[in-house]
Amino acid sequence: MMRRFSRRALIGSVWAGTAGLPFPRHTWAQRQGPEEGFEGEVAGFDLGLLDDWLTPNELFFVRNHFAAPKISAHAWKLAFSGAVSVPFELSYEQLGGEPQTELAATLECAENPAGGGLVSNAQWSGVSLAGLLKKAQPNAEARFVRFWGADGAASDGLGYARSIPISKAMSSDSLLALRMNGETLPAAHGFPARAIIPGWYAMDSVKWLRKVEVLSDAGNSSFMSAAYQRQRRSGAVTLPREPISGMKVKSVFSRPLDGAILMGRRFIVRGAAWAGTSRVRQVELSTDGGRSWKAAQLATTSASSPQQPYTWVYWNYEWRIPSPGDYELIVRATDDRGRVQPAERAKERVDPYEQNSYQRVRCKVTARI
Ligand code: MTE
Repeated sequence: MMRRFSRRALIGSVWAGTAGLPFPRHTWAQRQGPEEGFEGEVAGFDLGLLDDWLTPNELFFVRNHFAAPKISAHAWKLAFSGAVSVPFELSYEQLGGEPQTELAATLECAENPAGGGLVSNAQWSGVSLAGLLKKAQPNAEARFVRFWGADGAASDGLGYARSIPISKAMSSDSLLALRMNGETLPAAHGFPARAIIPGWYAMDSVKWLRKVEVLSDAGNSSFMSAAYQRQRRSGAVTLPREPISGMKVKSVFSRPLDGAILMGRRFIVRGAAWAGTSRVRQVELSTDGGRSWKAAQLATTSASSPQQPYTWVYWNYEWRIPSPGDYELIVRATDDRGRVQPAERAKERVDPYEQNSYQRVRCKVTARI
């Protein structure tokens, strides 16, 4: 039976246990501009509810920079424009009439802290972006594709818009999604249509699409120039910003949660791991604060957690508890290119993105009765 929880109950849960984060929520982005007078939403997926490989729509995390717009499918049109030979518009009905394709993809917000719930996995269905772009016939100048959302101050260019290189837009897996887990795309997740840019941090999976614009450069909309960029400090010097794109390898616990009190000699530790456009090769667990590591079991062969490109995979580890006491459990993953999560966030980073260092949870095992 599917468990139901109100969204309200989950708001804020993602930030529980992140008090030690170097970046207070929103501070960096607000300083940069686009989120002044924030009226959006941040609602994490409660990782303790990690039961289904596909996150139920009502539990899927939400991250909106502005109030979610209410769009009537009847009046809605999606424009393809810019550096193309054949600009066109499609109604909701016309988009639904195009050949539909399906893709499972894990979305993670670029600001998701270690152990945070701004990550979820869904089956998306919709229309291949490459097919529609081919119809528009990008011209010789075409280098980027910009997605415009209908939220925020759309008319003066301050609304939500993100550009991606045309090579990624033309990849056969980039999608304009109309459905999520077999249902019409919910309003919170971008109805009538959203981009799904698989394997990349979710800021590029633009919701409430109104325009797809082909450009010769990335453009200077505020969410490109003032957010979602890596920035390092070297001594007193702040180095130039670099755009972020692919999701870094990362793993999280779903049990035990930080602060859990356990009883007994055996506990099945569980969680999920993902690696953007790569695959997870291994997940390791330490039950002694990082002195030794053991391989966790990846649920790759299980139908309930298949390992596919772009999606998370479940892992579990049977912990034979040696004695009562206080423990720190640590999880780390390695991708199929040998990249392993870092133990700590790099000190020189001054932005809030790509936080993929190890997750650590503390728990107490009480004396046996
Ligand atoms: N699209 C629009 N139009 N407006 C937004 O604020 N937020 C982005 C992306 N697409 C956003 C958007 C960010 S930062 C994230 S993490 C994902 O949507 C979140 O997708 P979800 O709310 O469906 O989980």
